[in-house]
Order: sequence, then C-alpha cells, then structure tokens
Amino acid sequence: MKALLDRPAPATTAALTLRRGAARVLIDNWTGTSTVPSRTLYPHQWSWDSAFIAIGLRHLSARRAQRELESLLAAQWADGRIPHIVFNADVPHDAYFPSPDFWQSSRAGRAAGAPAAPQTSGIVQPPVHALAAWLVHRSDPAESARRGFLRRVYPRLVAWHDYLLTRRTLGEGGLVAVVHPWEPGMDNSPAWDRALQRIEPAHSATYRRADLNHGHPADRPTDLDYGRYVRLATDYRGAGYDDRTAPHQFAVEDPGFNALLIVSELALAKMARELGNDARPHLAQAGELTRRLVNRLWDDRSGIFRVRDLTDDTPVDESGVTGLVPLIVPQLPHDIVDRLHRTLGSPQFTAPSTRLVPSYDLTGHAFAPHRYWRGPAWFNTSWLIERGLRAHGLHTSAARLRHGFLADAGRSDFAEYIDPVTGAARGARHFSWTAALTLDLLCTDHADTKELAA
Ligand code: SER
Repeated sequence: MKALLDRPAPATTAALTLRRGAARVLIDNWTGTSTVPSRTLYPHQWSWDSAFIAIGLRHLSARRAQRELESLLAAQWADGRIPHIVFNADVPHDAYFPSPDFWQSSRAGRAAGAPAAPQTSGIVQPPVHALAAWLVHRSDPAESARRGFLRRVYPRLVAWHDYLLTRRTLGEGGLVAVVHPWEPGMDNSPAWDRALQRIEPAHSATYRRADLNHGHPADRPTDLDYGRYVRLATDYRGAGYDDRTAPHQFAVEDPGFNALLIVSELALAKMARELGNDARPHLAQAGELTRRLVNRLWDDRSGIFRVRDLTDDTPVDESGVTGLVPLIVPQLPHDIVDRLHRTLGSPQFTAPSTRLVPSYDLTGHAFAPHRYWRGPAWFNTSWLIERGLRAHGLHTSAARLRHGFLADAGRSDFAEYIDPVTGAARGARHFSWTAALTLDLLCTDHADTKELAA
C-alpha cells in the first residue's frame, strides 16, 4: 500500500495532497478483486464505475487496474453482455436493492448465458470498457504483455460489443438502444421521463429501497421512479433477459452510450493492431456508428444531441449532459464540435458555482440542483467532456474544466456529485470514480487523447 502512495508525484504540494487523498480512497474501496463505487451506497462491483476506476488505478498499479477489469469480465454472460452489477457474495442482501435474489441471474438468465456464479444484474451500462482496457495496457505495456492482458480481454470486449450491436439495435437506424434508465448510467434524467410515463410502477409494498439508508431522499430518485425501475427490471427478468422476446416497453437511443461505444471501437482497433489482428472492421464500425449518431440524434436547432424514444421513433425535447458526451468522438464533424462547444459554454451548462458540467440544462423546466441526474454536476461526465475538448484541440476550455474538476474533487472530499448552483458536495463521499479520474487528470500526460484519433 505504501508503495502505491509513493509513486512519482505531481509537482506541487496541493497536487501531491490531492493525489494522496485520491489514492487513499481507491485503496480503502478495494475489496481484494475489485473496487466498490462507495462503501455505503454501492457496496458491490458496478460496470462503468469499474472502467473509470481502472483508468485511475493504472496510475497506482497497472496490475491492479487490469484485475479490476478482469474481475468484471469474469462475470460476462455467454451472450456477451457485461452485467451492470457483479454481486459480492459476502455483502448482506439488504445492503443494496435490487439484490441478487431480485435479479436471479443464474436461474432466470441461464438461457441467455448468465454464469452460475457470481450473481449479477441482467441489465448493462455504457461501454467504456475497451477504452479503459486500452489505457490500462498503454500505462504499462510490459506488465500487460507479461500477464497476457490484451490477449485475454480483447475477445471478451469484442463479444460485448457484438452483443450490443446484434441484440440491442432495436430501432431502424442501427444505433444501440438502452432498455432501462439505469443502463445509460444517468438514472433519473428528465430525458427518460416521457418514455417512463408509459410504465406502470411496481407496487411499493413489493420491494424495499436500500438507497435511502445512505442517500438523502431529496437527492435520490423519487418512489414513483423507483416503482418504474422495478417494473422494467421485473419484466426483463420475466423474459429470461432475452432481448429477442423481452417486451422492452422502455427503449431509447442514448447519445452518450453510443458515443462511448464508438470510442471503445476505436480502442478495439488499437488492440487488434497490437495483437496482429485486422483493425479495419473496428474502424469501419466506428465510422458507421458515428454517421448514424449524427443522422439519428444530432439536433441542429438546439445544438446538442438528443435522446431518441423508440416507442414513437421521435427525439426527446430535453437537453442533458448525455447530449454533450459525443464531443469525445474524434471523427465528429467540425461544425458539430463547434456547436457543442458553444452549447457547453452557454447559460444552459455554465454553472455559477462549479466548472463541472451539470447533468441537465440549468434553464430547463425539470432542473433540480441536487436530485441525482436532474441537475447535479458529475465528475465522470466532466472527465469525458474534458477529454473530448482536448481531442478536438479546444485546450483552453479543457484546462478550465480540468482545473475546476480538481478543485471540486479536493474540496468535496471526492464527492459523488456537486450542486451546480451552490457548489455544495452531494451524495456519497470518497466516491471511487471521482478519486480515480482525479488521479487520471493529475497524472496523465495527455498524449493518449490524440492517439485514438490517429
Ligand atoms: N444507479 C442505480 C442505483 O441507484 C443502478 O445502478 O442503484
């Protein structure tokens, strides 16, 4: 542990203190095989959290970062899906809801290819994993080669993308759809409200929320939202988690999810090349998905990407941070990059008390400064946008965001998110991805951003 803390440090005392604090969070949240997002609110392994965590862990220990991703991939289903939660059998069932006995993955998901163990959820989260695996590999190629890391993870990541591209392209336009509001990772974003209104909520007597034991009810999704989350998950479970027969009453194309798939396809191309495989199919896929993303989800009138509701195949008239995340796509047309940059700098997304990017339009009708994804500013989406700004040569804006990120991470004790109006820390503290991405911004030499575009 001491060795992890004593790695070469950033120059200033403030940066050193921040680095040590972030490392401490990741060390404390490590379970022996993976990292919990939060010791209180999220006591198991979460899919996209683990990808962000690995991106930070690589600066402490490339080996531990590899293990983070390997433990997640060990729970991959035979159909290729990476479940959004991998449950730790040592954690009591009432510590988190929905627990393993709700999802019943090994029984209900058997035909779809769920492993006999560990127990997992049946839904997914955004595909940041190939990007994370590539960055982890690049941080210590010798250790990666010694452990055969790329050779082992590459086929699993290909199977993951294949699952998304074959089973989840539910609409006409060939983009990947998400079938539960937890899948894009932005649980109660106003962008899902319209589609969710059609869902009959599960009766509150049939389940018991655990999140309110740790989070403030004013910060968390409402009971009505929860009833709908439970209903959708129950219906999916009832169909054996089989996308060919599941009713999928909620199905939307999310710009952030698809943008991350594109960037991860480019990472697969890098891996393929390194392993002596053909990179061209991945490059072609990334190009095709970029074209579809622009055709299907770009809203020229409002200067942001929109979510598309597949029930009536129409765009949802809400502006959220997911609509800015495509900045991370290297081949995005210049005029769109320019418009997104302007939207980012507009009153919609320029917060009075933080430079982090709010999760929802500050001027929007549903804006709520501390209710989970209905306004608060999150660190992971800000990290993605910082990376996107750099990839497109927008260095001044990137530096502003980076400095704001590091200042907020330190003063909030690595909070889960920030109230954009008051700047107050909200949600859990010692949150793993906040710490991990802090380390990344402190330690990265920025050379890796341009690289995926090359
Ligand atoms: N974020 C969701 C929850 O609160 C699902 O992972 O449980």
